Amino acid sequence: MAEIVITIDGPAGVGKTTVAKHLANRLGFTYVDTGAMYRALALIAQEINVTPEHEEMLGKLARELPLSFKQDGMKFSVFLDGRDVSEEIRSPQIGMLASTISKLLIVRKGLWELQRKLAQAAPKAIFEGRDMGTVVFPDAVAKFFLTASPEVRAKRRWKQLITSGKEVTYEEIYRSLLERDKQDMEREIAPLKPAPDAIVIDTSNLGIESVVNKMYQHILNKVGGVSNG
Ligand code: C5P
Repeated sequence: MAEIVITIDGPAGVGKTTVAKHLANRLGFTYVDTGAMYRALALIAQEINVTPEHEEMLGKLARELPLSFKQDGMKFSVFLDGRDVSEEIRSPQIGMLASTISKLLIVRKGLWELQRKLAQAAPKAIFEGRDMGTVVFPDAVAKFFLTASPEVRAKRRWKQLITSGKEVTYEEIYRSLLERDKQDMEREIAPLKPAPDAIVIDTSNLGIESVVNKMYQHILNKVGGVSNG
């Protein structure tokens, strides 16, 4: 098990990824975006026509996912079998499919195993997702749960996608975000919710810097100073 695991959970578009990357850079920690794992699985499933009804097949794909990550400062790339899919997995359609297949226990079990393996390999890591603090790393040193209004989140996500050249409307993003939230919160297995011991931060009116500072301070208080590397 890693020496120090920090978890960041929260709904879609809340800024988890940006904040987690900044925090990881500042602390010199490894950063793991677990949403990217569900998205990569969704992409493979779509490419080979495996629908959510094919539970066994999805479980097998999850267990054998040929996934690798590359972290270079603020740039985090996702590779499937060596192919860079960092951009492809970000579409709203893949997000929705990821949410649908993430309801399946067989899929979650496969990816939980992968996440725990990554934690074993990284001495100090930040894991970002939906169930990091509640299910995967209940003993994490510090747990955070980020929130923000759906309007603020949809706007952030929309801007991100527009900036990266995607043709999407705000309304489309808003609708799919609400639908995904509902699906993620209402699922039976590992639903989206804060761990009882998580620090909840509403980021609606806070800039990235302020959120990162709050978290950094909390971690320092908890760990009493963390060395880089
Ligand atoms: O974080 P991101 O929006 O990229 O995640 C895509 C989907 O993957 C989420 O809507 C959620 O259904 C699923 N997910 C999950 N558990 C995680 C991370 C993501 O169920 N730890």
